[in-house]
Amino acid sequence: MRQIRIFDTTLRDGEQAAGGSLTLPEKMELGRQLQRLGVDIIEAGFPATSPGDFRAVEMMSRELRECQIAALSGFKEDQIETTYRALQDAVAPRLHIVISTSDNHLQNQLHMSRQQVIEIARDATAFCKRFLSDVEFSAMDATRSDPDFLCEVFSAAVASGATVINVPDTLGYHQPPQFADLVRYVMEHVPGVENVAVSVHCHNDLGMATALSLAAVNEGAEQIECTINGVGERAGNASLEEIVMALRTRQDYYQATTNINTEQIWRASRMVSQYMGFVVQPNKAIVGANAFAHSSGLHQDGMLKERTTYEIMTPESIGRNDSRLVLGKTSGRHAVRSRLEELGFELDNDDFALVFAAFKELADKKKDVSDGDLEAIVSQHMVRTPEMYQLVRVQVVTGNDSVPTATVQLRTEDEVLEDAAIGDGPVDAVVRAISRITGVEARLTEYTLQAITPGVEAQGEVTLRIASEGHTFIGRGTSTDIVVASAAAYLNAVNKVLARHEVEHNGTVDALGLHNQMNVEVGPPAEQPVAV
Ligand code: KIV
Ligand code: ZN
Repeated sequence: MRQIRIFDTTLRDGEQAAGGSLTLPEKMELGRQLQRLGVDIIEAGFPATSPGDFRAVEMMSRELRECQIAALSGFKEDQIETTYRALQDAVAPRLHIVISTSDNHLQNQLHMSRQQVIEIARDATAFCKRFLSDVEFSAMDATRSDPDFLCEVFSAAVASGATVINVPDTLGYHQPPQFADLVRYVMEHVPGVENVAVSVHCHNDLGMATALSLAAVNEGAEQIECTINGVGERAGNASLEEIVMALRTRQDYYQATTNINTEQIWRASRMVSQYMGFVVQPNKAIVGANAFAHSSGLHQDGMLKERTTYEIMTPESIGRNDSRLVLGKTSGRHAVRSRLEELGFELDNDDFALVFAAFKELADKKKDVSDGDLEAIVSQHMVRTPEMYQLVRVQVVTGNDSVPTATVQLRTEDEVLEDAAIGDGPVDAVVRAISRITGVEARLTEYTLQAITPGVEAQGEVTLRIASEGHTFIGRGTSTDIVVASAAAYLNAVNKVLARHEVEHNGTVDALGLHNQMNVEVGPPAEQPVAV
């Protein structure tokens, strides 16, 4: 059985998804989950591009000791030095450098000759080797490059000591048999390739990223770069869960395996979706809400008789166990703590006290507290933005013949403030009341509401985006009451706006972990306010 190494780039390429920026505490929580998931390498950021990415790579390098940490770098010496400084404390750091190899990029973007690119590949790789032994070299836009020139560039990198050469389908352009041919060509035409690992990195613009990655495995690629839920630039990257479950479910065909603990996939997917504010499409392979739902009578009949009639893998194999309801209002500390530990959360006493209090509050409102509910509580309490305002009370009056009116009470460090507003709907009224108290003017550009668990007493999870002063901020909130969840989510985003002000005035970027909230999105902004 061959061992395929999984290189997760959720925190680098994934975070490049428009509107998907993460705060430092969110990145750290995700990094811990990726380690639990068993990925071989976490690409934690692009340190030379922002102080926030630098800090994230540095912190992950120091804390996560069970996997390799990689960081992306441009090919210039100062960029490589900065990247190395961020990575240096990792147990097995990897410097990842990139330069484009297609004529299109050479002419239109880099304004360089082919010879110059070969020299850069040679010199930049050699420069990296002064700092670290493990150096990955990526040829951006490889699939639109002249294959012979691509091999020349890779040869220069290998001759200078690259340990991994990566073949990216940067624009999601290739078709699977073509990509298989290209990977084979590289394997056959780069001197010394037998001593390095060949990696692939595919984008999903034509919906082919998983197929291409797996086609490359068949040609001998040893490393696959991918992201949870397939998040990433434009249409995203190859999706980790699809690749890993294809290799596992069709081990008979691929004769290959990974180190992934598949039972952690569901949780990783939920976290990425929550933190980035991207709802997973219901029919998404492996992690969509309907991925294991059988609705036709014929299929249900088969499933009841023998699961394998219509199931090629089980929901349990990805850690999805919706029916496991174990905790309720009589559950004590011990039971809650052990369930949290089974789910992989190791909390210190202070954090546990917070989580337990929130659990009790929820258990008073709903009979059964599921794993999903517990995860939502932990994520709410563990990765919170520093809060200038806390939600104390929300009251709304609404109905088909009354003007929606909201009264909101917020607490700051020194006082409790209250105000009321009317709106087009109950959420609009709540949003207006919060704006009156906090003074933050923002436009609600996106609003989604999902039930965390099935059933009438499910918790509602609201994810929204607001635009303020040219930036986008994500807010999340959960509650058994959807208006309260909306208020919590809106306030969460408003607190990020205020924290950003704080950062701008006091320069405490890293302390607040909010660097990435400053990312300005490129691409069509959501201009229309959302009415809810
Ligand atoms: O898509 C791409 O080419 C990349 C490289 C940096 C590997 O993300
Ligand atoms: Zn990419």
